[in-house]
Amino acid sequence: MLSDRFGRSIDYLRVSVTDRCDLRCTYCMPKDFKGYEDPPDWLSFAEIERVVGLFARLGTSRVRLTGGEPLTRRHLPQLASRLAALPGVRDLSLSTNGTRLARHAEALRAAGVGRVNVSLDSLDRDCMANITGRDCLPSVLQGLRAAKAAGLAPVKINMVAMRGVNDAEIDAMAAFCIEQGFMLRLIEVMPMGDTGRNTAYLNLAPVRERLARRFGLRPQALELGGGPARYWSTADGRASIGFITPLSQHFCASCNRVRLAVDGTLYLCLGQEQQYPLRPLLRGGASDAELEQAIRAAIELKPQQHDFNRRPERIVRFMSQTGG
Ligand code: GTP
Ligand code: 5AD
Ligand code: SF4
Repeated sequence: MLSDRFGRSIDYLRVSVTDRCDLRCTYCMPKDFKGYEDPPDWLSFAEIERVVGLFARLGTSRVRLTGGEPLTRRHLPQLASRLAALPGVRDLSLSTNGTRLARHAEALRAAGVGRVNVSLDSLDRDCMANITGRDCLPSVLQGLRAAKAAGLAPVKINMVAMRGVNDAEIDAMAAFCIEQGFMLRLIEVMPMGDTGRNTAYLNLAPVRERLARRFGLRPQALELGGGPARYWSTADGRASIGFITPLSQHFCASCNRVRLAVDGTLYLCLGQEQQYPLRPLLRGGASDAELEQAIRAAIELKPQQHDFNRRPERIVRFMSQTGG
């Protein structure tokens, strides 16, 4: 098992398979974004498989595919089936904006993806278009239906809560998710890049109190998914809402993850700069033992916690570079 200087077990690897996206969510990507890395510099499927395989040998059992938008990378289900087949990988999941999910849900399920998290910030078509830069609500809703039909479960919905943008829609979204059997997660916006910093932050603590009263929610001890969300459930336990509150109540003490960016850089924390480049090793003929040593050395660099509250100007990279 990999463990860091603070005694945290690292058993969750997030793999960004592209930095491109077909949307431009205001909090995530700059409008004029053209790509940070050229495709030849992206890790190939074989290189990704090699890194994930090494992590899995070291005890990492959860793998999440992210982007950019992972479904813009061609043949993604093929990569998924290669990763799902690796010994030790027990939980393979995908974070997506949902626009292409209707087309790919069946293939993803067949490839061994167990569950998907889908970004949906509004149920209002115009509001969604304003946030994402495209009239995408119908395709995302279609994607959600397809994911459910394909048996990807649970389907989680990620809603980034923004003051004055979609905060008035939170209750409607909660009601929709409870009715449809989706697990809503409300997310506090993080100051990543100019986009994250220029988005109006909403503290979710009072929102949680209000939703708890309205929907009869109580805190749940059980961890669902092994991620940063804290869940509250209805009395009958049939519906849960997760709160991801990096700023008002962070979860760094139980952080279990690192990130592999599409250029082969390992990022040790979302809200810090520590990183370790694996691509030179992968392309320079390093042995598995050498790569394993590099992974261990990288984990040593993992910091104790993010610095979003004290130094919100610090992280200049955009969220889309590391996939959240
Ligand atoms: P589960 O495995 O389903 O729990 O997934 P997840 O919630 O970890 O992943 P997802 O890609 O759906 O991310 C939801 C939100 O959590 C996004 O806004 C991410 O940026 C944020 N997030 C995920 N991991 C971390 C983390 O380690 N630190 C911080 N600060 N935010 C994170
Ligand atoms: N703060 C919080 N969450 C963000 N995401 C993208 N940018 C930010 C940000 N600045 C979320 C997306 C997606 C998830 C992977 O990360 O909404 O659901
Ligand atoms: Fe694309 Fe997701 Fe970023 Fe929106 S949050 S721009 S969908 S990568």
